[in-house]
Amino acid sequence: ARQVGILAAEVYFPRHFVDQKDLEKYDGVSEGKYTIGLGQENMGIVSDREDVNSIALTALDKLIKSYSIDLSKIGRLEVGTETMVDKSKSVKSYLMQRFEEAENFDLEGVDNKNACYGGTAALFNTVNWVESSSWDGRCGIVVMADIAIYGKGPARPTGGVGAVAMLVGPNAPLEIKPTKQHYMRHTYDFYKPELTSEYPVVDGPLSITCYFEALDNCYNGWRQKVKKNSPNSSFSCLENLDYFCFHAPFAKLVEKSFARLLFSDLRCCPEELSKKLGKEGFDSLEKYHNITTADSLKDKTLEKSLTTVAKPLFESKCLPSLKISKNVGNMYTPSLYGCILSLLSTGKLTGGEKIGCFSYGSGLSASFYTIEIHNGEKLNKINKVTSLIDERLNGRTKITCADLVEFAANKTTSEKLKNESFKPAGPVDSLESGTYYLEHIDSKWRRHYKTA
Ligand code: ACO
Repeated sequence: ARQVGILAAEVYFPRHFVDQKDLEKYDGVSEGKYTIGLGQENMGIVSDREDVNSIALTALDKLIKSYSIDLSKIGRLEVGTETMVDKSKSVKSYLMQRFEEAENFDLEGVDNKNACYGGTAALFNTVNWVESSSWDGRCGIVVMADIAIYGKGPARPTGGVGAVAMLVGPNAPLEIKPTKQHYMRHTYDFYKPELTSEYPVVDGPLSITCYFEALDNCYNGWRQKVKKNSPNSSFSCLENLDYFCFHAPFAKLVEKSFARLLFSDLRCCPEELSKKLGKEGFDSLEKYHNITTADSLKDKTLEKSLTTVAKPLFESKCLPSLKISKNVGNMYTPSLYGCILSLLSTGKLTGGEKIGCFSYGSGLSASFYTIEIHNGEKLNKINKVTSLIDERLNGRTKITCADLVEFAANKTTSEKLKNESFKPAGPVDSLESGTYYLEHIDSKWRRHYKTA
């Protein structure tokens, strides 16, 4: 198969959100800490009416309807998630309900788990299947969904909720290029060892260092692979990629990550970088040429110099991708893909562009790869579907921080489920039409869903 990649995509984020300015006041932190310090505007939130299965079903249903997909022609269905409501039954198995009517039960693939990286793993599996000798000519669907929620404390403003569904196959307008660089290690930066709690155990500063280390290794390794695979390729520094999308826990981290690519360029291709930045910009960075990687991760003046010099490039190549992330928060597995769809929602990508993509999941797994945009009807359709994202973001309902806490407190816990069935209390009327919601959990802990 040729030009394998994303043929169609849809995103779901919840109807309710909290304003980060309100959260700053509610948490009693200094004004600007979440909005300027982290770069976040709003945070999406679901009540006990929605769980990982329902948001995955909603995204899948939106994809099917927006692009009129014939479900008898799908041969693979993969899920990426780190939100667990069952230690055995997969989210994918819930999605199979949607295939009953088409009587298609021949769908390879199950759930992929590694913190925020599972969505990328699901995508790569599906792309690799289409390129393999076992491919049967049908398309694949990838669904990634998570509810990111933290208890009271510094991590709470970095929560979020969302789901992305994508159709994968040949002759795609968003081609996933084969050269990828991965970085995988054993770390304890963020993990969820308490199986009855939604909250992770998180070492915030360590998670950020791990993220930067993974980015350095992936970007540098990818650059070397591109040079080796195609010695005549023009790629030398970040200037050769038109846009960059990152896994986005919060916008400030993405801005710093983009700037850090300049640091990699400084060490690998200083001549090209100096041409791009001009004398003044380049001179402000040159003194850091020989600093060790370990020192570079701690040096706040280096970080400041990089973000200052990178600002115009960041604004043109990366900021447009942060629309959903700034307004919904960290969606975990769909985060990077929400950024790609935000970028497409600008309508500015018309074919020929190359996007650098960085996926990160704590624990840790990370990859850098590129997407090449191809023009045509399929790209026009994606542009049209994503052009509605703004309207959907603006049509949401703001809730108070007290409601946020109540939403979280009402969540089903295994404690509540013991010996009795569970009826969620959250509102149904305010859900967007077509949204799947949890109707009840019966006394055998089986979950039953309806659509709004
Ligand atoms: N106005 C403007 N900026 C402010 C203000 C203010 N009033 N107050 C603080 N800030 C700035 C700080 O200077 C800091 O900026 P800097 O990093 O550029 O120096 C920033 O706000 C954050 O403040 P800190 O006090 O350094 O950090 P905090 O204790 O609030 O924790 C953290 C932030 C670590 C990101 C926390 O929210 C967290 O643990 N989140 C979850 C982990 C995470 O998302 N990790 C990312 C990768 S792993 C993953 O995706 C889950």
